[in-house]
Amino acid sequence: MKFLLGFVVALLLVAGGGWLYLKFGKLPVAASDPAFPMEEDIVKVPLKARIGREMQQPPFPASEEAFEQGATIYKDECAACHGLPGQPVDFAQRMYPVAPQLFKVHTKKKSAAKVVGVSDDDPGETFWKVKNGIRLTGMPAYGKILSEPEMWDVALLLKNADQPLPDPVKALLK
Ligand code: HEC
Repeated sequence: MKFLLGFVVALLLVAGGGWLYLKFGKLPVAASDPAFPMEEDIVKVPLKARIGREMQQPPFPASEEAFEQGATIYKDECAACHGLPGQPVDFAQRMYPVAPQLFKVHTKKKSAAKVVGVSDDDPGETFWKVKNGIRLTGMPAYGKILSEPEMWDVALLLKNADQPLPDPVKALLK
């Protein structure tokens, strides 16, 4: 009986302590606050695992037609946050997490290799992110906004963002 009582009191103390921490602990809630310890791992590990389980292969190969469709969709739906070639978006850097510029060269954290946007990711990974969005970030879920072929068009375009794109595609991305 005493043990049970002790257990219940301990539980209440932990719950109460947790609540006090949320209320007075100054957790980072502003976009401009620094990251929480291990915040990136807490978010990225389950995201990667989920995508690993659900990732699909593109149902059609990359083509100029797919790039053109993808570029039109990208400009309408994505460029406001993710920028166009040579035209980065200022506020993207002030979001938390930042909206990466998908036509810009950046240095990878782990390997220090240079990559353009997400061209080093599988198109299936990009497709998953576009379809489902990423919770607690500004990344919307497009599953009910774009059709599956449209999302593949964008995913294939972004996979090839590091390649010389055909002129009509470049013109659409201006
Ligand atoms: C309102 C702003 C906004 C719009 C619009 C938006 N995104 Fe995002 N997107 C984000 C943010 C913020 C992130 C970063 C999420 C994170 O760090 O986990 C992101 C992440 C991504 C990623 C993953 C990047 C990486 O490095 O792994 C891809 C791919 C992506 N978006 C593609 C798109 C595409 C394609 C569209 C249009 C169909 C789009 N996004 C529209 C804000 C946006």
